[in-house]
Amino acid sequence: MEKQKSFLPTAPYKGTRDFYPDDMRFRNWMFSVMRETVQSFGYQEYDGPILESFDLYKAKSGEEIVQRQLYDFTDKGDRHVAIRPEMTPTLARMVAGEVRNLAKPIRWFSIPNLWRYEQPGKGRLREHWQLNVDLFGVNSYRAEVEIILIADSILKKFGAPAGSYQIKISHRGILDSFLSNSLSLPSEKCQAVSKLLDKKAKISKEVFEQELRPLLSNPDGQIPLIYAYLESDLESLSRFKGINSEAVEFIGRLSADLKSLGIEKQISFDPSIIRGFDYYTGCIFEVFDTNPENRRSLYGGGRYDNLIGLFSNDQLSGIGFGLGDVTFRSFLEGHGLVPDLHRNDTVFIPVMEESLFPEILKLAYELRSDGINVETMLESGKVGKQIQTAEKKGYRFVLFLGESEVAKQEIQLKDLKTGTQSVLSRKDLSSKLKDSMLG
Ligand code: HAM
Repeated sequence: MEKQKSFLPTAPYKGTRDFYPDDMRFRNWMFSVMRETVQSFGYQEYDGPILESFDLYKAKSGEEIVQRQLYDFTDKGDRHVAIRPEMTPTLARMVAGEVRNLAKPIRWFSIPNLWRYEQPGKGRLREHWQLNVDLFGVNSYRAEVEIILIADSILKKFGAPAGSYQIKISHRGILDSFLSNSLSLPSEKCQAVSKLLDKKAKISKEVFEQELRPLLSNPDGQIPLIYAYLESDLESLSRFKGINSEAVEFIGRLSADLKSLGIEKQISFDPSIIRGFDYYTGCIFEVFDTNPENRRSLYGGGRYDNLIGLFSNDQLSGIGFGLGDVTFRSFLEGHGLVPDLHRNDTVFIPVMEESLFPEILKLAYELRSDGINVETMLESGKVGKQIQTAEKKGYRFVLFLGESEVAKQEIQLKDLKTGTQSVLSRKDLSSKLKDSMLG
């Protein structure tokens, strides 16, 4: 009997995506809008290696990332390495390496792919791309104002209406003072309780309380206090014993400034924002889609004062955020913010008659010299079929060149989006085409 041939699967590794050209076009468009927005604030792009030493994450990324989500292994030279699960440690390492030479404030951005061993699900994958925007060397709350303004500007640049997203801010100083002063928790318990608070939205009330009880000395008294804290607004925080009033004032001032810049509807103080990473020391924030179908955060960020200190005695405070491509794509699609992504940037030329192929090559050559992208068919075929090919390839503009057009030095231009057809003279073809492609 003939042995059945076994084939390799065509599906990508669990929790990762293949980017076929249509997806790539979407991704490039999405990142180009983001890139343009952050560059308009003077930020410069950087990148780093995908592989780093394991120690870089061990120090400050937090238990969940390091123990459960890191792709780490020993390389052939016996070094313990990890694939980057986030960009902030690489950024801190790079800034620390050149800290004395870099002009401050440092305004940098990057769009790396990151790897986390997660259970893939809605809004969560094992590989995602993340826009990182960070600002170093400004201690005042003006840095927070700028970073949150950039986060808001990106959403506005995509045309997001005010009610479609929420920017929720808090402060590690408020949380820490609540845990250690209002709840009187010893320092080793503070971290465990804050991790649990971070997890709260993902687990049931029963599980939350069940896990909380063993961490508290007087659960019946402390649990109601925790619920009251989580529901507080900025004004009512003062009723908690020993709450960090400087941090409360800081958030008050920041909110007022942002509101005066016209972001009042989108911004709110929310004490349930915890942020999982150990390195945050000040203001923390997350941005959420208001569409309940897209529950996971769009952005997460905050201020980190001590990361540079891992590498030397130098001190430089940083603040920034990460914006993930998975939830952001759902946001854009959910709110109808994806424009027509026809391939406006390239024209397509079918070959209707074999004998005209040299003329078509000449035309394509002229157009490319004028800066227009052109794809030509390489074999002749029926017009209908070639238009179908152009449609399937996502083209908007198709140029027809037949015997009579060659004789009259003309070209027929078909717009597949509007269905219109027009005759253009060969002389001003490039400039007319450029106008159409921009329009
Ligand atoms: P993060 O909260 O872990 O922060 O990630 C930021 C954003 O990346 C999230 O809000 C989410 O949109 C996206 N994201 C994270 N993990 C996944 C995943 N497994 N699948 C899909 N999307 C994901 C950080 O990484 C910080 N280092 C950000 C930062 C920069 N803080 C200061 N500067």
